[in-house]
Amino acid sequence: MIYLDSAATTLQKPPSVRRAVVSAMERMASPGRGGHRPAMLAADTAFACREAAAELFHLPDPENVIFTLNATHALNIAIKSLVKPGDTVVVSGYEHNAVTRPLSALGCRIKVARAPLFDREGILAAFDQEITEEVSCVISTHVSNVFGFILPLEEIAGLCRERRIPFILDASQSAGALNVHMDELGCAFIGMPGHKGLYGPQGTGLLLCGEGQTTVTLLEGGTGSLSARQEMPDFLPDRLEAGTHNVPGIAGLLEGLRFVKRRGEENILRWERELTRMAARYLARIPGVTVYAAEALEAQGGVLSFSLENLDCEEVGERLGQRGIAVRAGLHCAPYAHESAGTEVRGTVRASFSDFNTSGEVKLLAQEVSRLAG
Ligand code: ALA
Repeated sequence: MIYLDSAATTLQKPPSVRRAVVSAMERMASPGRGGHRPAMLAADTAFACREAAAELFHLPDPENVIFTLNATHALNIAIKSLVKPGDTVVVSGYEHNAVTRPLSALGCRIKVARAPLFDREGILAAFDQEITEEVSCVISTHVSNVFGFILPLEEIAGLCRERRIPFILDASQSAGALNVHMDELGCAFIGMPGHKGLYGPQGTGLLLCGEGQTTVTLLEGGTGSLSARQEMPDFLPDRLEAGTHNVPGIAGLLEGLRFVKRRGEENILRWERELTRMAARYLARIPGVTVYAAEALEAQGGVLSFSLENLDCEEVGERLGQRGIAVRAGLHCAPYAHESAGTEVRGTVRASFSDFNTSGEVKLLAQEVSRLAG
């Protein structure tokens, strides 16, 4: 199988991740729930994982790294901590439903900073225009999950700092491949999955909390701390981590973070970009294929969308699947992104790459697409 759906979940993981998951299941219990060896091993692993994330994303305090189920869970905590029902919020025209559905549930007025696909200056100008006094929060994805479009993160964060408006970053498609510097960006929160570019197991995610940030709890329950009190602790990470942790997942995520650190985010990005550009070149040569590729190198990461004139995108996805090539097709839980690019009716076929894909796999994708287009 040729797996090209890493924007959903990376399937090929470093071997150390699988070994860590199995070892945790065999040897570890619940962190903070006892002084015995299995509990202490779990506590040490959880803390090592917080430290590894704090180092990779430049947070001064590892205790501000919160374990979540996924990026959606992390972003829900972030949004509900900062946004009140009816508030005005600015988002990019490339947001995922993980951002827009919670805002919609809160009855927010959503101002969308829109610009054509791959237009980094245009989207910055749109944020500049939309971030006005009545805005209570700005939320942006770093990289579009549909098109791999890399938004000008440092500049957007700069606008928010200048205007003193809290900024939430969705790093779902960038964590592990692009530099995300929490301290320099000055974000209120950053949410990310553990199971994509950080190569952890599904069921893991991280919420990075800004220093002194007020947080609301989505879940209340046991934390192993201040057990005689009925209120949740007011300190992190306990405040946001009620109930038993996903220790095998955290142990795997720790090894995923270590892999990214060893390999280097810049090398991962370089390779994913090379594969993306190669795929774009091959696919663009096929008559009847439209490819959504950026001209400027810095505008696109390891995600490429395309479509065929003669076949529905879902049909292409299904037929590629039958030939052993895994892609995602249709609408990708990001209606704003499709509207920005004009693909809201037909959707796209999406190939997304990880560090483990090869140029041979890209050639086979192009061969199969050519067969379908012919
Ligand atoms: N957000 C993930 C994707 O784009 C699940 O596929």
